[in-house]
Amino acid sequence: MTGRRVLVLNGVNLGRLGSREPLIYGSTTHEQLAALCVQTGNEVGLDVEVRQTDDEAELVRWLHEAADSGAPVVLNSAAWSHYSYALRDACSQLTAPLVEVHISQVHAREEFRHTSVISGVATATITGLGVEGYRAALRFLAL
Ligand code: DQA
Repeated sequence: MTGRRVLVLNGVNLGRLGSREPLIYGSTTHEQLAALCVQTGNEVGLDVEVRQTDDEAELVRWLHEAADSGAPVVLNSAAWSHYSYALRDACSQLTAPLVEVHISQVHAREEFRHTSVISGVATATITGLGVEGYRAALRFLAL
């Protein structure tokens, strides 16, 4: 099904989902997560594209692309969320809703994870629902 285009953007270290600290991040691989997001998009009428990068500049370019095309974004900017003002500035240029997602419950973890510089420019933040958070974000964007 083709519908409104939504970008799901995953940042640094999330390509290692599945093998990376599974007690914290679960056993779903990034490939499986991407398939889950595309499938959820099909269910709710969104054309979902999932990308992952370990390169902050590349993520900034993708956010510029989303700003220019008016695409909503689901963003897990991983560790960058906690300190990257460059990413925040890119997010604040977005022209459609932005849902920030964290797989783990960041507020129950180390203190440095309690702050997100992205949250202040996000429409909503979902944290601690595991990969279900991405599905909830997409369902919201389809409303
Ligand atoms: C994360 C939480 C971040 O603190 C961490 O650096 C990540 C993943 C999450 O999805 O739970 O890489 O964004």
